[in-house]
Amino acid sequence: MEKHLLKMADLTQQDITDILNLADQLKYDRQHGIPHRLLEGQTLGMIFQKSSTRTRVSFETGMYQLGGNALFLSSRDLQIGRGEPVEDTARVLSRYLDGIMIRTFEQAEVESLAQYGTIPIINGLTDYCHPCQVLADLMTIREYKGQFDGLKMAYIGDGNNMANSLIVGGLTAGMSVSVACPDDYRPHADVLEFAKAYGDKFTLTTSPEKAAENADAVFTDVWASMGQEGEAEKRRIAFKGYQVNDSVMAAAKPDAMVQHCLPAHRGEEITAEVFEAHANEIFDEAENRLHAQKAVMVKLMQKK
Ligand code: CP
Ligand code: NVA
Repeated sequence: MEKHLLKMADLTQQDITDILNLADQLKYDRQHGIPHRLLEGQTLGMIFQKSSTRTRVSFETGMYQLGGNALFLSSRDLQIGRGEPVEDTARVLSRYLDGIMIRTFEQAEVESLAQYGTIPIINGLTDYCHPCQVLADLMTIREYKGQFDGLKMAYIGDGNNMANSLIVGGLTAGMSVSVACPDDYRPHADVLEFAKAYGDKFTLTTSPEKAAENADAVFTDVWASMGQEGEAEKRRIAFKGYQVNDSVMAAAKPDAMVQHCLPAHRGEEITAEVFEAHANEIFDEAENRLHAQKAVMVKLMQKK
């Protein structure tokens, strides 16, 4: 495994299997009261330039459960918010911390932290991708379905950070992936290029029903991501019809699961009925953020 987790493409199929196996073990330990203080005495810095409920709480709690400590560093309070270069921040924080999780806008900022720092960097969401979320999603699919081979993942909605990471993660794990999005909101060109190597295991369409056909897991995400609040009205029009509803679910396999990274907007990308019918899977997915990220931290930060 590489030294950092900057995007899903940093992981091989074997890396994903190793992370998920450890995550399953850590989840088992937690459910049985077995301590696992694998990062005793270590400190994770958590830089947030955007809001968060799940990422912040799961990383902070996870670090505590691993015997370490986590620092919440809002960009509003850091000198980075007043213009101190990320290159300098990386070199300073590397002298104090054992790892950094960062949530920000530009993927380039995360790459710079990794380039200039000397400690592991974990991407906690950028406009480009959300690898921690997708590891939790893969963990949940494996829990429910037992394996990835022969499964079909469908994603309906914006070709955003979640779409980008799901495509790369789903294909790398061994699933086929089908995405439905409006032509003007396609996934990132790099991701479409990545998917080309998988031939007909990847399909891109404008039809939600077609994408969902025979799917084993149906994903969606918000129409307007963090930072796009000003486009919300325009996007409500562009994404009309890109909704996980009964008609989309009727196209999927009868036992298809539904996943949503949350927060969800009922009545927009998903109906309240479909959300509630699949709430167990969706909140298992949210819980698995904790276990999957603990596994990532152990893999990247545990002193050999
Ligand atoms: N899914 C997710 O990353 O949630 P938060 O924005 O609450 O961290
Ligand atoms: N696409 C969403 C995901 C939130 C977890 C966003 O970036 O806001």
